[in-house]
This record gives sequence, C-alpha cells and structure tokens, in this order.
Amino acid sequence: MAYQTIDVKPIAGALGAEVFGVDLSQDIGDQEFDEIHQAFLDHKALCFREQDLSPQRQVALASRFGQPDIYPFIKALPDVPEVIEILKTERDTVNFGGGWHSDTSYLPQPAMGTFLYALEVPDSGGDTMFANTQRAYETLSPTMKNMLEGLIGVNSSAQNYKGGRAKQMKELDGMKDKYIDSSEISIAEHPVVRTHPETGRKGLFVSRAHTTNFKGMTVEESQPLINFLSEYTVHPEFTCRVRWRPGTLVVWDNRCTQHFALNDYNGQRRRMHRVTLRGDRPA
Ligand code: SIN
Repeated sequence: MAYQTIDVKPIAGALGAEVFGVDLSQDIGDQEFDEIHQAFLDHKALCFREQDLSPQRQVALASRFGQPDIYPFIKALPDVPEVIEILKTERDTVNFGGGWHSDTSYLPQPAMGTFLYALEVPDSGGDTMFANTQRAYETLSPTMKNMLEGLIGVNSSAQNYKGGRAKQMKELDGMKDKYIDSSEISIAEHPVVRTHPETGRKGLFVSRAHTTNFKGMTVEESQPLINFLSEYTVHPEFTCRVRWRPGTLVVWDNRCTQHFALNDYNGQRRRMHRVTLRGDRPA
C-alpha cells in the first residue's frame, strides 16, 4: 500500500516495521488511522518512536483498534484499569514475558493486539523479539499441514502462572505487589492452525508457554509435537527484534505473532505500560 500520511519502514524480512510521521499524543484522523491499521495487518508489529503517552492516552489509542481488556493476573494502575505496569527492578533476576508466547492464549477470547509502551529501559538489553506464526505455518510441509488440520490445542494459564511461575512472580521485587494470586486456572481449547479473521491467512497457534496438550491426546503424546511446533515457529528467519528506548510504543497482532521479552539486563531497571485488546474466538 502507498501511504500518504505516514512512512513505514520494515525492520526485518519476516515481520515488524517502524512507523514515522505520526504523533500519537494527539487524536489521529481517519485516514491516518486507516493507514496505521493497514500497516498493522501487513507488518504485524509496529514500532513508534519518541511518543509521549499518558496511560489514558494509551488506552484511547488502543480503543481505536478494538476493545481494551482487563488482564486477569496483574493489578492495573489504580485509576486506569486497562493498563498494567511491567517492572523489572535492579534486584530482580526473572522477568515477565520471558518465554515465547501469544498473549492470553489460555482465555476463550485471547488478546487480539497488545500496546506496550516503554517508560524506563536498560542502557542495553531488554529487547523484545517477535515471530511471524503465519510464515512458520506456510513453510511447513503439505503432509504436516494436513496432520495439523482439525487439531485442537489445550491452552492453560497454569503452565506459566501457577506453580513455579506464580512463585517466581511473587518473589519478583517489581511485580510481587501487583500479582493477583487467583485460584482460578483458565483453560481454553483453540485450533492449532488459526485463520486470521481480517486477512484470511493461516498461522500456528501453539506455544510451550501455554499449550499443555492436544485435545484427545495425553500430555506425553502431545509434547514432542508441541515442542517441534514451538521451536519451528521461532526460527530466526521468522523473527524480528525491537530495541526499546523510553517513549517507544510497539503494537503487535497476537493473532499471527508470538513474542519473547529478553532477560539479559540483570542489575538494571525496565518499566513498561501494557494494554491488551479483547480478541475473537480463534477459528
Ligand atoms: C509481554 O509478554 O507482554 C511483555 C513483553 C515485554 O515486556 O517485552
């Protein structure tokens, strides 16, 4: 698409682009929004630099794309229930989001998109990686694609957020006061191959972080294929990497990507604000 109000420069072959020429602290017009939305569908992860976004402004922007959701495991900012703060302090050694996943895939309607805004970042490190799950699906062999057709993944919040992970989160200096120790485990069954509702493209929807097994199969039977698909999805050729600066906003499409927050900055501080959008039921 030829953009008239914005400049869009890809940052890798598989996905990701930087968007120039837009000030998100102001209301954006319909044409500007349509072009940003098209770039979101085309590039899957959009990076906007030097933005000045209050939590309210971040929610207002996200609302142009869809319905901001309430995240079930972290307390929101006191007066903005759609925004959570992700903080790793100088004392923490574990981070939030440090494993490949698509946000909230254990919910019946997993997050459609995520808006992550950087407030404080380490001098180096703390990048986020993204993977294009459609590119992964499209490059599988025809026989593997046939095998996956109709297969249902069972996705559980317990995989990450209960047991070991919950204990870790509670010990985190930056997150322990924000963690909601809900006794509820959320489990949702979703197709392993999902079709993007807006582009019609198929992509893989499996991750070791959330998928426990396939419907009708034991965990033991499922694990080898979950491991293969999880690793295949994040081959270097299917990924891009975003280096954060304070004021960077990244908007990504969870329906066709996975992401990974790198934990390579112990002793330094990283603070982000996150809004997720309610998605549809994967099909
Ligand atoms: C997340 O998984 O949503 C957090 C990603 C990040 O902090 O880079």
